[in-house]
Amino acid sequence: MVEQKATNVHWHEGSVTREHRNKLLGQKGATLWFTGLSGSGKSTVACALEAELIARGHLTYRLDGDNVRLGINKNLGFSAEDRTENIRRVGEVAKLFVDVGVIVLSSFISPYRIDRRVAREAHDKDQMPFIEVFIDCPLDEAEKRDPKGLYKKARAGQIKNFTGIDDPYEAPEHAEIHLRTDELSLEQEVAVLLDELKRRGILDAD
Ligand code: ADX
Repeated sequence: MVEQKATNVHWHEGSVTREHRNKLLGQKGATLWFTGLSGSGKSTVACALEAELIARGHLTYRLDGDNVRLGINKNLGFSAEDRTENIRRVGEVAKLFVDVGVIVLSSFISPYRIDRRVAREAHDKDQMPFIEVFIDCPLDEAEKRDPKGLYKKARAGQIKNFTGIDDPYEAPEHAEIHLRTDELSLEQEVAVLLDELKRRGILDAD
């Protein structure tokens, strides 16, 4: 748990609430938290779901490891501490979006169970839906795909602490959704996620 450094700070409540914003937007926010190896398909599934949700008129925003690391998290690398801080910040950013009423699609390797739990508990504390989606793809398949050529570099020793090669990945034990991306089509994966959002009343049933 990160230490609260600033003292004498207190939450300032305005008169506009989450319910007001939800009403204005006509939807409720939620975080779908995609976790899995590099090259497992997290961003691909998130992009496909994003397009589908936008087409259905739902405001959605994608938070993606590579993108976020070019901006707000550009001062973080891949040590265990930096990955933890990466996930902590993204969990907090996701909450801000959910507070607006946005459906957040967050795709990060997020290799440590404890870091994902911290993000989940932060959502739970404020009654925000947090749906963990395990993008499950065997390492040899992710390595075969190697869309960015990073596994090759990691095997050659040119990248240190690469998840799955010389850095750990702790698979979820109780993810709400478990998708085997080497067995399902992209359409099937999107359909499972849409069903879950409907089941939870975040999307209207067809
Ligand atoms: S996380 O572990 O902190 O959640 P994140 O999802 O933000 O990682 O970033 C992972 C992306 O950074 C990978 O998809 C890959 O493109 C790139 N990357 C660069 N170095 C590493 C590394 N050592 N381990 C994993 N991914 C890396």
